[in-house]
Amino acid sequence: MSQSLKPLIETCVPRDDVRSGNFAAVDFAARLEQVVTDPGSYADYGLPERFFSLTYPTNGMKRLLTGVFGRLSGQDVAGAENPVLRFQTSFGGGKTHGLIAAYHVARGYRPGPEFFDALFDEELLPADMGVSAVVGEQLDPVNGVELSGEVAYTLWGAIGAQLGPDAWAVVAESDAARTPPGTGTIKKMLGGRPTVIIVDEVAHYLRTLATSGSEDVRSLARALPAFFKSLFEVAAEKGSGLVVVITLATEKDAYGAETDQVATLLESTVGEASSVLARQEAVLVPASDHEIAAILRRRLFESIDDAAASEAGAAYQALYEHLVASGESLPAGAGQPATYGATVAAAYPFHPELVRVLDSRIATIPTFQRARGALRLLAATIGFLWAEPIGTVMINVADLPLTSDKVLYELTERLGKERFRQPAEVDIAGPRAHAAEIDNARFASKPFAARAATCVFLHSLEQVSTVGAGRGDYLLGSLRPDDTPEVYDEALNS
Ligand SMILES: Nc1ncnc2c1ncn2[C@@H]1O[C@H](COP(=O)(O)OP(=O)(O)O)[C@@H](O)[C@H]1O
Ligand SMILES: [Mg+2]
Repeated sequence: MSQSLKPLIETCVPRDDVRSGNFAAVDFAARLEQVVTDPGSYADYGLPERFFSLTYPTNGMKRLLTGVFGRLSGQDVAGAENPVLRFQTSFGGGKTHGLIAAYHVARGYRPGPEFFDALFDEELLPADMGVSAVVGEQLDPVNGVELSGEVAYTLWGAIGAQLGPDAWAVVAESDAARTPPGTGTIKKMLGGRPTVIIVDEVAHYLRTLATSGSEDVRSLARALPAFFKSLFEVAAEKGSGLVVVITLATEKDAYGAETDQVATLLESTVGEASSVLARQEAVLVPASDHEIAAILRRRLFESIDDAAASEAGAAYQALYEHLVASGESLPAGAGQPATYGATVAAAYPFHPELVRVLDSRIATIPTFQRARGALRLLAATIGFLWAEPIGTVMINVADLPLTSDKVLYELTERLGKERFRQPAEVDIAGPRAHAAEIDNARFASKPFAARAATCVFLHSLEQVSTVGAGRGDYLLGSLRPDDTPEVYDEALNS
């Protein structure tokens, strides 16, 4: 059918930490607090050059950076009319990653035009900007938190401390009195400098305050709306030079009630603070479904051979054309092989079917956490495939090595699905599994049964009523350009 595709170990170079299985970025959670306090020992995120080289410029991120910095530099670009931007998605969707990008730009790094809308002019950015980046989890209303040498007990105190000694001097008493500063004090705190105020995980902070055993702390929860109202009012003033960015998780996550509360607060206060402009708070989504493959590629690989990607696209296109011509019906767009072939090339070395299964099906399991879960699983997969190369030409659903303990852990214990480990071990993974017996007996040890069973296993993990893989699902998730559907049918019927 096609000329055989080259093994991935010849066409792609994984990033060092991925290849060694030694992820410095612990967990693939981006941590803003660490970027601010200890960037040197958090190189992937803390050092801007490295950070942007690992970052795929999603539309959401471009809109965030263009909006924030367009406003601060007075450019007439999309989003610049918004004094408050909200970055919202589920856990692991890239909120903090976007905030870190904004932080680095505010601190003076220039990532290049790739990270902004086309009309944006980096040259116009002010040389000196104020920036404060506070994480809800880091604030401590009882013991205080040390920031730039000051101990702050409140959100406004933390912001002031980070903006510098002059700002702290203005707001220190409001912090000590646990009372939000008014608009005049906030403006004084900004000192006329263009400023970005970033608050990550504000719902978490609100929960801490509201559920405290101390009445004093609970009263801070009631003061928070007043502070935000003043802050947004200042931001909305013409020429204020202030932009506020906050993140909220989507409601199905933890802190649902607080998230609702903050969302309502934002909608009402931003609305009140700015009757002039119709819509002053923009809600941006860090990454959409079709961008996940690009994020995975950029984050996990140092380089990917473009020619190999095109060859893979062409080979899979030919495979699906052949299947469609012989009457198979394929899900997820693969029934239009011409366009789907281009999708394969763009996602290479990940098969788009794997990305689909992870992002829209396995991601229905709340503990998976979207980009983060996919990154963890695929990093473990790459570590294994590079340590014990078996000639893999594309990483599809059936190529997930369940024989790797790390990979299996990500799909079972990690997702609260311990009960799936044993069936995986008995039926699918390893030389003694049922699948290996079939492969040995029928397919001269070629792993068709193991591949088909891996595919079925992945689909059985989903949390939706239609669990299980249909014929189209396992053909799309298992078949390689040199395979025929019949062997997979035979494997599954054995
Ligand atoms: N545009 C992107 N480019 C590269 N990696 C990204 C991008 N967006 C998110 N990530 C990575 O995905 C993972 C989850 O993102 P994170 O910002 O921690 O999510 P959230 O804050 O929404 O829970 C992190 O490892 C992060 O670095
Ligand atoms: Mg986060």
